[in-house]
Formats: sequence, C-alpha cells, structure tokens
Amino acid sequence: MTDVEQFRSVYETGGVYDRCLLPHYYDGREDLDLVRELVTAHHGEPAGNLTVVEFGCGTGRVTARLAPYARHLILADYSTTMIDTVRVQYPLARTIRADTRDAVAQLLGEGRAGSFDLVGAFWSLSYPLGEFFETMTADGIQPVSDVAAARRQAIAFVRDITRLLAPGGHLLALFFDSDTPEQRLVTRLWERIAPFPEEGRSYTRNLLLTALRQLEDSGHGALTHTRRSGTAWAPNAEAAIAWFNVVHLKSFPALVNDAGVQHEIRDFIDHYEQPSGEVTLPSGVHVADFHAIPHPSHHLPR
Ligand SMILES: C[S@@+](CC[C@H](N)C(=O)[O-])C[C@H]1O[C@@H](n2cnc3c(N)ncnc32)[C@H](O)[C@@H]1O
Repeated sequence: MTDVEQFRSVYETGGVYDRCLLPHYYDGREDLDLVRELVTAHHGEPAGNLTVVEFGCGTGRVTARLAPYARHLILADYSTTMIDTVRVQYPLARTIRADTRDAVAQLLGEGRAGSFDLVGAFWSLSYPLGEFFETMTADGIQPVSDVAAARRQAIAFVRDITRLLAPGGHLLALFFDSDTPEQRLVTRLWERIAPFPEEGRSYTRNLLLTALRQLEDSGHGALTHTRRSGTAWAPNAEAAIAWFNVVHLKSFPALVNDAGVQHEIRDFIDHYEQPSGEVTLPSGVHVADFHAIPHPSHHLPR
C-alpha cells in the first residue's frame, strides 16, 4: 500500500471508521445533536423543503439529522466506500464521489451557485483545505513550495463554497480543536513525519475563519464562530488506542509500529482512564456558521 492509500484507508475500508469513531459529547449532547439544534434554530422543525449539500458526508452519520429537512439532498465524499454506504441509506439523494474541491467546482459548473439553503461539512473540511498546502505522493507527504499561493487558493475555495448558498442559507462546519491535549499529542506524533504548514494544525481552521470573516467584512454574510468544550468517550483503553492508531494516525506504519509512539499514546490514555475502565478524553469543537445574508443591515431591529 502506498502512503496515500494508507492515509485514506480509514475512510476507504468498509466499517472501519464507524467501528473506531469515539462518540463526542458536548454538555450531554452528541455532535449530531449540535448540528440538529443549529438547523432547527435556523429553519424551524423539519419540513422537508430545503436544498441541502453535505461535503465529506462519510457514512451519513450527520446526514441522518439533515435528511428530514431536505427536499433535495446531495452527498459528496471522495471515498467510494463512504459513497456506497450513503447510497444505500439515502437512495433518493444525489451522490458525488469526488474531492470536495472538485465537487464544489462541479456544482458551480452546473450553475448551482446561490441554490443551497444548507451547505454542511462536518469534521471534513480540514482535509481539502490542507491539500492546498501539501500533496500526498507515493513518496510521502510533500509540502508545496509556494505557501502564499496555496493560501490564496484555499481562501478562494472557501469563497466558492459560500457561493453555493442561497440568500439566507447557512454554511455549517464542525472543526476539530487542535489545541486540546489529545490533538496536541496527535500533532507531535505527526510532526515526526512532516511539519505542518503555517501556524501548525490550527491553520486549516484559521483559514476557513479568515476567509469567512473577509466575506462578512465585504458585506456577503455574517459569521458566528463558537468553540465548545466536550468529551470523547471510549468504553475501554483498547478502544481509545484504536481511535488513536486508526483514526488519528491513519494506521501509518512509521507511527503505529514505533514503540515510542505507542508508549506515549498508552501513557496519555492511562491518564484519562476512569476507575470503571472507561476513558474520557477532553475534547473541543469549533462550530462555524456562515449566514448568507446582507451584512450588517440584518442586525437592525425589524
Ligand atoms: C472525519 S470523517 C467525517 C465524516 C462525517 N462527516 C461524520 O461526521 O461522521 C471525514 C470524511 O471526509 C472524507 N474526506 C476526507 N478528505 C476529503 C476530501 N479531500 N474530499 C472529500 N472528502 C474527503 C473522508 O472520506 C471521510 O468520509
């Protein structure tokens, strides 16, 4: 297996992602419920009347909360396995098997600018944003030479995503918090392979927020950004170790076969193991909600 195939295998091998994913709770609610609450706050109870696209849909975990709102539903993911899974679950949805960058370009090319009430990307936008800064080849991860150009392209990509929004529509994105102890450990481990561009692993989230903030400043919409503290829960240490090795480290042999790496993971998990044997890891989520509405006039009392 090449490094590229290896890196993507967690999303390409049937059942692996769902089996290893740890539930994440925020004030007693799962991430799925945070999304549902936001959509309900924006659009009311589901009436099956929205046009919805979800990028990086995975196995359709969050889709389950979006689908009741949708009259037209488009699900996109680069993984054949993920797309095959959601096709079975949502036979009426249109699916696009493509990198998010290509899926966005495809929809714009079809004249779909301004047509989506809801554009969602849950735990999935850091990948296409990161791909502007590094490419994966059979020889490993290669940083691009022109970082300024990568940044411009990434910002243009975020603008393109928002061009899909209908007036009044929302872009909702969930982003991992790179500053939690868990993610700081993941960063340290990956940096054994290659450094992260710009200011570290937060750079993709910062790029998204910068691009959305620029759009707000130019009157194209309003950005609400929140960060919530949460907990990732594992039934036992083995499940927590699998979460690290399979999902965080993508079963990358140079990392998962390294005794030092495994020792660090084990130490970390021991620290959060409860007397019951469960493991509760401090976690966090950044929620970006961009509302395509003329700014700032919509703040005025009606
Ligand atoms: C962490 S999973 C999240 C899946 C789903 N949104 C959820 O919350 O369960 C990331 C998903 O993004 C997909 N993905 C990763 N990079 C991608 C890219 N560049 N283009 C499209 N999909 C991508 C993966 O195949 C995977 O399904």
